[in-house]
Amino acid sequence: MNYTTETMVITVAAFLALLGAAFGHDHLFAVHMGILCFCLLAGAALLISKVDFLPAGQRRKVDISGYFDEVIRYGLIATVFWGVVGFLVGVVIALQLAYPDLNIAPYLNFGRLRPVHTSAVIFAFGGNALIMTSFYVVQRTCRARLFGGSLAWFVFWGYQLFIVMAATGYVLGITQAREYAEPEWYVDLWLTIVWVAYLAVYLGTILKRKEPHIYVANWFYLSFIVTIAMLHVVNNLAVPASFLGSKSYSAFSGVQDALTQWWYGHNAVGFFLTAGFLGMMYYFVPKQANRPVYSYRLSIIHFWALIFMYIWAGPHHLHYTALPDWAQTLGMVFSVMLWMPSWGGMINGLMTLSGA
Ligand code: HEM
Repeated sequence: MNYTTETMVITVAAFLALLGAAFGHDHLFAVHMGILCFCLLAGAALLISKVDFLPAGQRRKVDISGYFDEVIRYGLIATVFWGVVGFLVGVVIALQLAYPDLNIAPYLNFGRLRPVHTSAVIFAFGGNALIMTSFYVVQRTCRARLFGGSLAWFVFWGYQLFIVMAATGYVLGITQAREYAEPEWYVDLWLTIVWVAYLAVYLGTILKRKEPHIYVANWFYLSFIVTIAMLHVVNNLAVPASFLGSKSYSAFSGVQDALTQWWYGHNAVGFFLTAGFLGMMYYFVPKQANRPVYSYRLSIIHFWALIFMYIWAGPHHLHYTALPDWAQTLGMVFSVMLWMPSWGGMINGLMTLSGA
Protein backbone atom coordinates (compact mmCIF):
# COMPACT_ATOMS: atom_id res chain seq x y z
CA MET A 1 0.00 0.00 0.00
CA ASN A 2 1.38 3.43 -0.96
CA TYR A 3 -0.12 6.40 0.85
CA THR A 4 1.16 9.21 -1.41
CA THR A 5 -2.26 10.19 -2.81
CA GLU A 6 -3.95 10.04 0.60
CA THR A 7 -1.21 12.21 2.13
CA MET A 8 -1.63 14.79 -0.64
CA VAL A 9 -5.43 14.90 -0.27
CA ILE A 10 -5.17 15.39 3.51
CA THR A 11 -2.54 18.11 3.09
CA VAL A 12 -4.77 19.99 0.63
CA ALA A 13 -7.68 19.61 3.10
CA ALA A 14 -5.44 21.02 5.86
CA PHE A 15 -4.65 24.02 3.64
CA LEU A 16 -8.37 24.60 3.01
CA ALA A 17 -8.98 24.42 6.76
CA LEU A 18 -6.25 27.02 7.21
CA LEU A 19 -8.03 29.27 4.70
CA GLY A 20 -11.23 28.71 6.69
CA ALA A 21 -9.37 29.79 9.85
CA ALA A 22 -8.03 32.90 8.11
CA PHE A 23 -11.27 34.02 6.45
CA GLY A 24 -13.83 32.68 8.96
CA HIS A 25 -16.78 35.05 9.47
CA ASP A 26 -16.91 34.42 13.18
CA HIS A 27 -14.22 33.89 15.76
CA LEU A 28 -15.48 30.44 16.84
CA PHE A 29 -15.47 29.11 13.26
CA ALA A 30 -11.92 30.38 12.79
CA VAL A 31 -10.73 28.64 15.95
CA HIS A 32 -12.57 25.43 14.99
CA MET A 33 -10.96 25.45 11.53
CA GLY A 34 -7.58 25.96 13.21
CA ILE A 35 -8.22 22.80 15.26
CA LEU A 36 -9.26 20.96 12.08
CA CYS A 37 -6.10 22.12 10.29
CA PHE A 38 -3.96 20.87 13.19
CA CYS A 39 -5.68 17.43 13.19
CA LEU A 40 -5.30 17.07 9.41
CA LEU A 41 -1.61 18.04 9.53
CA ALA A 42 -1.07 15.45 12.27
CA GLY A 43 -2.83 12.89 10.03
CA ALA A 44 -0.68 13.85 7.03
CA ALA A 45 2.50 13.51 9.15
CA LEU A 46 1.36 10.06 10.29
CA LEU A 47 0.70 8.97 6.72
CA ILE A 48 4.03 10.29 5.42
CA SER A 49 5.77 7.93 7.83
CA LYS A 50 3.97 5.07 6.06
CA VAL A 51 4.75 6.11 2.47
CA ASP A 52 6.91 3.60 0.59
CA PHE A 53 9.93 5.32 -0.96
CA LEU A 54 10.85 2.23 -3.00
CA PRO A 55 11.61 2.41 -6.75
CA ALA A 56 8.48 2.26 -8.93
CA GLY A 57 7.16 -1.23 -9.45
CA GLN A 58 8.71 -2.49 -6.21
CA ARG A 59 5.87 -1.80 -3.85
CA ARG A 60 5.77 -3.73 -0.62
CA LYS A 61 3.14 -6.48 -0.84
CA VAL A 62 0.26 -6.30 1.59
CA ASP A 63 -1.38 -9.57 2.55
CA ILE A 64 -5.06 -9.27 1.64
CA SER A 65 -5.91 -12.95 1.80
CA GLY A 66 -7.48 -13.16 5.29
CA TYR A 67 -9.87 -10.99 7.27
CA PHE A 68 -9.09 -7.28 7.65
CA ASP A 69 -8.66 -7.04 11.41
CA GLU A 70 -6.00 -4.37 11.89
CA VAL A 71 -8.50 -1.52 11.72
CA ILE A 72 -10.62 -3.37 14.30
CA ARG A 73 -7.69 -3.49 16.74
CA TYR A 74 -7.32 0.29 16.39
CA GLY A 75 -11.08 0.59 16.93
CA LEU A 76 -10.84 -1.39 20.15
CA ILE A 77 -8.23 1.02 21.51
CA ALA A 78 -10.35 4.00 20.42
CA THR A 79 -13.43 2.50 22.12
CA VAL A 80 -11.63 2.09 25.45
CA PHE A 81 -10.02 5.52 25.14
CA TRP A 82 -13.30 7.36 24.47
CA GLY A 83 -15.01 5.31 27.17
CA VAL A 84 -12.51 6.54 29.75
CA VAL A 85 -12.81 10.14 28.49
CA GLY A 86 -16.64 9.99 28.49
CA PHE A 87 -16.93 8.51 31.99
CA LEU A 88 -14.40 11.00 33.39
CA VAL A 89 -16.40 13.91 31.95
CA GLY A 90 -19.48 12.20 33.50
CA VAL A 91 -17.76 12.31 36.88
CA VAL A 92 -16.90 15.99 36.34
CA ILE A 93 -20.48 17.01 35.49
CA ALA A 94 -21.81 14.91 38.40
CA LEU A 95 -19.46 16.82 40.71
CA GLN A 96 -20.59 20.11 39.15
CA LEU A 97 -24.19 19.24 40.01
CA ALA A 98 -23.14 18.64 43.61
CA TYR A 99 -20.65 21.52 43.84
CA PRO A 100 -21.67 24.32 41.44
CA ASP A 101 -18.43 26.19 42.16
CA LEU A 102 -16.70 23.66 39.90
CA ASN A 103 -18.30 25.34 36.86
CA ILE A 104 -15.45 27.18 35.15
CA ALA A 105 -17.07 29.70 32.80
CA PRO A 106 -17.47 29.67 29.90
CA TYR A 107 -15.60 26.68 28.42
CA LEU A 108 -16.01 24.20 31.26
CA ASN A 109 -19.59 25.02 32.31
CA PHE A 110 -22.04 22.16 32.97
CA GLY A 111 -24.04 23.28 29.91
CA ARG A 112 -21.06 22.70 27.61
CA LEU A 113 -19.63 19.60 29.29
CA ARG A 114 -22.93 17.70 29.52
CA PRO A 115 -23.16 17.20 25.72
CA VAL A 116 -19.45 16.28 25.74
CA HIS A 117 -20.37 13.49 28.17
CA THR A 118 -23.49 12.27 26.35
CA SER A 119 -21.87 12.39 22.90
CA ALA A 120 -18.63 10.82 24.15
CA VAL A 121 -20.36 7.86 25.78
CA ILE A 122 -23.00 7.30 23.08
CA PHE A 123 -21.28 8.21 19.84
CA ALA A 124 -17.56 7.94 20.62
CA PHE A 125 -17.54 4.97 23.02
CA GLY A 126 -20.70 3.24 21.72
CA GLY A 127 -20.15 4.26 18.09
CA ASN A 128 -16.61 2.90 17.89
CA ALA A 129 -17.75 -0.32 19.58
CA LEU A 130 -20.58 -0.65 17.04
CA ILE A 131 -18.60 0.15 13.90
CA MET A 132 -15.70 -2.09 14.85
CA THR A 133 -17.74 -5.08 16.02
CA SER A 134 -19.82 -4.76 12.85
CA PHE A 135 -16.60 -5.02 10.80
CA TYR A 136 -15.61 -8.08 12.83
CA VAL A 137 -19.01 -9.78 12.62
CA VAL A 138 -19.76 -9.09 8.95
CA GLN A 139 -16.47 -10.65 7.82
CA ARG A 140 -16.98 -13.83 9.83
CA THR A 141 -20.66 -14.33 9.08
CA CYS A 142 -20.13 -13.62 5.36
CA ARG A 143 -16.78 -15.41 5.14
CA ALA A 144 -15.43 -12.44 3.17
CA ARG A 145 -12.75 -9.77 3.67
CA LEU A 146 -14.01 -6.22 4.26
CA PHE A 147 -14.98 -4.53 1.00
CA GLY A 148 -13.20 -1.42 -0.21
CA GLY A 149 -9.58 -1.88 0.88
CA SER A 150 -8.46 1.24 2.76
CA LEU A 151 -12.03 2.58 2.92
CA ALA A 152 -12.35 0.97 6.38
CA TRP A 153 -9.37 3.10 7.51
CA PHE A 154 -11.14 6.19 6.16
CA VAL A 155 -14.23 5.24 8.17
CA PHE A 156 -12.16 4.77 11.33
CA TRP A 157 -10.10 7.97 11.12
CA GLY A 158 -12.98 9.99 9.66
CA TYR A 159 -15.14 9.02 12.60
CA GLN A 160 -12.42 9.97 15.12
CA LEU A 161 -12.12 13.35 13.37
CA PHE A 162 -15.89 13.81 13.68
CA ILE A 163 -15.67 13.08 17.43
CA VAL A 164 -12.83 15.56 17.96
CA MET A 165 -14.64 18.29 15.97
CA ALA A 166 -17.90 17.67 17.85
CA ALA A 167 -16.30 17.70 21.31
CA THR A 168 -14.08 20.75 20.72
CA GLY A 169 -17.09 22.52 19.20
CA TYR A 170 -19.18 21.98 22.36
CA VAL A 171 -16.43 23.30 24.62
CA LEU A 172 -16.03 26.36 22.37
CA GLY A 173 -19.79 26.94 22.49
CA ILE A 174 -20.58 25.90 18.90
CA THR A 175 -23.91 24.06 19.03
CA GLN A 176 -27.18 23.87 17.15
CA ALA A 177 -28.86 22.96 20.48
CA ARG A 178 -30.57 19.79 19.21
CA GLU A 179 -30.16 17.11 21.84
CA TYR A 180 -27.77 14.30 20.80
CA ALA A 181 -27.26 16.17 17.50
CA GLU A 182 -25.44 19.25 18.79
CA PRO A 183 -22.68 19.57 16.13
CA GLU A 184 -23.09 22.36 13.61
CA TRP A 185 -23.72 21.99 9.87
CA TYR A 186 -20.13 21.47 8.62
CA VAL A 187 -19.44 18.72 11.18
CA ASP A 188 -22.78 17.11 10.23
CA LEU A 189 -21.80 17.13 6.56
CA TRP A 190 -18.52 15.44 7.39
CA LEU A 191 -20.30 12.72 9.38
CA THR A 192 -22.62 12.11 6.42
CA ILE A 193 -19.62 11.44 4.15
CA VAL A 194 -18.04 9.08 6.70
CA TRP A 195 -21.33 7.29 7.26
CA VAL A 196 -21.91 6.69 3.53
CA ALA A 197 -18.40 5.21 3.33
CA TYR A 198 -19.29 3.00 6.30
CA LEU A 199 -22.44 1.81 4.52
CA ALA A 200 -20.39 1.08 1.38
CA VAL A 201 -17.86 -1.05 3.32
CA TYR A 202 -20.59 -2.93 5.16
CA LEU A 203 -22.96 -3.50 2.25
CA GLY A 204 -20.07 -4.26 -0.12
CA THR A 205 -18.90 -7.02 2.22
CA ILE A 206 -22.40 -8.51 2.39
CA LEU A 207 -22.69 -8.38 -1.40
CA LYS A 208 -19.41 -10.26 -1.95
CA ARG A 209 -20.14 -12.86 0.75
CA LYS A 210 -19.32 -16.54 0.26
CA GLU A 211 -21.96 -17.61 2.76
CA PRO A 212 -25.39 -17.77 1.03
CA HIS A 213 -27.44 -16.88 4.13
CA ILE A 214 -27.31 -13.40 5.66
CA TYR A 215 -27.08 -14.10 9.40
CA VAL A 216 -29.53 -12.15 11.61
CA ALA A 217 -26.79 -10.06 13.30
CA ASN A 218 -26.16 -8.42 9.92
CA TRP A 219 -29.82 -7.42 9.61
CA PHE A 220 -29.59 -5.57 12.91
CA TYR A 221 -26.30 -3.86 12.02
CA LEU A 222 -27.58 -2.89 8.58
CA SER A 223 -30.80 -1.40 9.96
CA PHE A 224 -28.65 0.59 12.41
CA ILE A 225 -26.47 1.98 9.61
CA VAL A 226 -29.33 2.82 7.22
CA THR A 227 -31.70 4.29 9.81
CA ILE A 228 -29.05 6.43 11.49
CA ALA A 229 -28.20 7.86 8.06
CA MET A 230 -31.87 8.79 7.49
CA LEU A 231 -32.34 10.27 11.00
CA HIS A 232 -29.09 12.23 10.84
CA VAL A 233 -29.81 13.80 7.45
CA VAL A 234 -33.42 14.82 8.17
CA ASN A 235 -32.87 16.10 11.72
CA ASN A 236 -29.89 18.17 10.61
CA LEU A 237 -31.50 19.84 7.59
CA ALA A 238 -30.38 23.44 8.07
CA VAL A 239 -29.31 26.56 6.23
CA PRO A 240 -25.90 27.93 7.24
CA ALA A 241 -25.91 31.68 7.91
CA SER A 242 -22.60 31.76 6.03
CA PHE A 243 -20.42 29.11 4.43
CA LEU A 244 -17.51 30.50 6.46
CA GLY A 245 -19.39 30.68 9.74
CA SER A 246 -20.42 28.25 12.45
CA LYS A 247 -24.09 29.27 12.78
CA SER A 248 -26.98 27.64 10.92
CA TYR A 249 -30.77 27.79 11.06
CA SER A 250 -32.89 24.65 11.19
CA ALA A 251 -35.24 23.90 8.29
CA PHE A 252 -37.99 23.26 10.87
CA SER A 253 -39.66 25.48 13.42
CA GLY A 254 -42.19 25.25 16.21
CA VAL A 255 -43.88 21.97 16.95
CA GLN A 256 -42.69 20.42 13.68
CA ASP A 257 -39.15 21.08 14.87
CA ALA A 258 -39.88 19.49 18.25
CA LEU A 259 -41.34 16.42 16.57
CA THR A 260 -38.39 16.11 14.17
CA GLN A 261 -35.95 16.40 17.07
CA TRP A 262 -37.63 13.64 19.09
CA TRP A 263 -38.24 11.46 16.08
CA TYR A 264 -34.45 11.65 15.76
CA GLY A 265 -33.64 11.51 19.47
CA HIS A 266 -35.83 8.54 20.24
CA ASN A 267 -34.78 6.55 17.20
CA ALA A 268 -31.12 7.32 17.82
CA VAL A 269 -31.68 5.29 20.99
CA GLY A 270 -33.66 2.69 19.05
CA PHE A 271 -31.27 2.17 16.19
CA PHE A 272 -27.88 3.22 17.61
CA LEU A 273 -28.15 1.96 21.18
CA THR A 274 -30.63 -0.88 20.52
CA ALA A 275 -30.50 -2.32 16.99
CA GLY A 276 -26.71 -2.00 16.71
CA PHE A 277 -26.06 -3.58 20.09
CA LEU A 278 -28.55 -6.36 19.32
CA GLY A 279 -26.45 -7.13 16.25
CA MET A 280 -23.55 -7.54 18.65
CA MET A 281 -25.64 -9.74 20.93
CA TYR A 282 -26.82 -12.05 18.15
CA TYR A 283 -23.24 -12.81 17.16
CA PHE A 284 -21.26 -12.80 20.39
CA VAL A 285 -23.73 -14.42 22.82
CA PRO A 286 -24.18 -17.66 20.80
CA LYS A 287 -20.46 -17.59 20.02
CA GLN A 288 -19.44 -17.32 23.68
CA ALA A 289 -22.05 -19.84 24.80
CA ASN A 290 -20.88 -22.10 21.97
CA ARG A 291 -24.39 -23.00 20.84
CA PRO A 292 -26.87 -21.71 18.24
CA VAL A 293 -29.20 -18.84 19.06
CA TYR A 294 -32.19 -20.12 21.11
CA SER A 295 -34.79 -19.36 18.43
CA TYR A 296 -33.88 -18.14 14.99
CA ARG A 297 -37.57 -17.64 14.21
CA LEU A 298 -37.96 -15.40 17.26
CA SER A 299 -34.93 -13.38 16.14
CA ILE A 300 -36.68 -12.63 12.84
CA ILE A 301 -39.95 -11.62 14.55
CA HIS A 302 -37.89 -9.58 17.01
CA PHE A 303 -36.14 -7.79 14.14
CA TRP A 304 -39.24 -6.83 12.18
CA ALA A 305 -41.22 -5.87 15.30
CA LEU A 306 -38.40 -3.49 16.25
CA ILE A 307 -38.17 -2.01 12.76
CA PHE A 308 -41.91 -1.45 12.28
CA MET A 309 -42.70 -0.11 15.74
CA TYR A 310 -39.73 1.82 17.10
CA ILE A 311 -39.79 4.50 14.44
CA TRP A 312 -43.28 5.71 15.58
CA ALA A 313 -42.57 6.06 19.29
CA GLY A 314 -40.73 9.44 19.25
CA PRO A 315 -43.78 11.58 20.18
CA HIS A 316 -43.79 10.06 23.69
CA HIS A 317 -41.04 12.60 24.44
CA LEU A 318 -43.61 15.34 23.79
CA HIS A 319 -46.60 14.37 25.96
CA TYR A 320 -48.71 17.31 27.19
CA THR A 321 -47.11 19.74 24.75
CA ALA A 322 -48.44 21.62 21.69
CA LEU A 323 -48.01 18.42 19.64
CA PRO A 324 -51.49 17.39 18.35
CA ASP A 325 -53.24 14.83 20.57
CA TRP A 326 -53.44 12.23 17.81
CA ALA A 327 -49.67 12.26 17.37
CA GLN A 328 -49.13 11.95 21.15
CA THR A 329 -51.55 9.01 21.27
CA LEU A 330 -49.84 7.35 18.31
CA GLY A 331 -46.45 7.67 20.02
CA MET A 332 -47.84 6.31 23.27
CA VAL A 333 -49.58 3.30 21.68
CA PHE A 334 -46.51 2.29 19.67
CA SER A 335 -44.37 2.66 22.79
CA VAL A 336 -46.60 0.24 24.68
CA MET A 337 -46.44 -2.20 21.76
CA LEU A 338 -42.66 -2.07 21.96
CA TRP A 339 -42.92 -4.68 24.72
CA MET A 340 -42.83 -7.16 21.83
CA PRO A 341 -39.34 -6.57 20.40
CA SER A 342 -38.06 -5.77 23.86
CA TRP A 343 -39.18 -9.14 25.25
CA GLY A 344 -38.25 -10.97 22.03
CA GLY A 345 -34.61 -9.88 22.27
CA MET A 346 -34.46 -10.43 26.01
CA ILE A 347 -35.90 -13.97 25.81
CA ASN A 348 -33.64 -14.91 22.91
CA GLY A 349 -30.50 -13.65 24.63
CA LEU A 350 -31.28 -15.16 28.02
CA MET A 351 -32.45 -18.52 26.67
CA THR A 352 -29.33 -18.82 24.52
CA LEU A 353 -27.27 -18.37 27.68
CA SER A 354 -29.52 -20.47 29.91
CA GLY A 355 -27.54 -23.37 31.35
CA ALA A 356 -24.44 -22.48 29.32
C1 HEM B 1 -18.62 7.06 35.24
C2 HEM B 1 -19.70 6.90 34.52
C3 HEM B 1 -20.76 7.97 34.33
C4 HEM B 1 -21.04 9.09 35.07
C5 HEM B 1 -20.37 9.57 36.35
C6 HEM B 1 -22.15 9.77 34.42
C7 HEM B 1 -22.73 10.96 34.85
C8 HEM B 1 -23.75 11.64 34.21
C9 HEM B 1 -24.35 12.88 34.63
C10 HEM B 1 -23.98 13.65 35.87
C11 HEM B 1 -25.31 13.22 33.73
C12 HEM B 1 -26.17 14.49 33.72
C13 HEM B 1 -27.43 14.31 34.52
C14 HEM B 1 -28.29 15.55 34.51
O1 HEM B 1 -28.17 16.40 33.64
O2 HEM B 1 -29.11 15.68 35.43
C15 HEM B 1 -25.36 12.18 32.76
C16 HEM B 1 -26.24 12.15 31.71
C17 HEM B 1 -26.27 11.16 30.75
N1 HEM B 1 -25.40 10.09 30.65
FE1 HEM B 1 -23.91 9.60 31.95
N2 HEM B 1 -22.49 9.07 33.30
C18 HEM B 1 -21.69 7.94 33.22
C19 HEM B 1 -21.71 6.97 32.26
C20 HEM B 1 -22.58 6.94 31.20
C21 HEM B 1 -22.67 5.89 30.20
C22 HEM B 1 -21.81 4.64 30.17
C23 HEM B 1 -23.65 6.24 29.34
C24 HEM B 1 -24.17 5.54 28.09
C25 HEM B 1 -23.47 4.69 27.35
C26 HEM B 1 -24.20 7.50 29.78
C27 HEM B 1 -25.21 8.19 29.12
C28 HEM B 1 -25.79 9.35 29.57
C29 HEM B 1 -26.94 9.97 28.95
C30 HEM B 1 -27.69 9.44 27.71
C31 HEM B 1 -27.25 11.10 29.69
C32 HEM B 1 -28.40 12.07 29.45
C33 HEM B 1 -29.58 11.57 30.25
C34 HEM B 1 -30.82 12.44 30.19
O3 HEM B 1 -30.79 13.56 29.66
O4 HEM B 1 -31.84 12.01 30.75
N3 HEM B 1 -23.52 7.91 30.88
N4 HEM B 1 -24.39 11.22 33.06
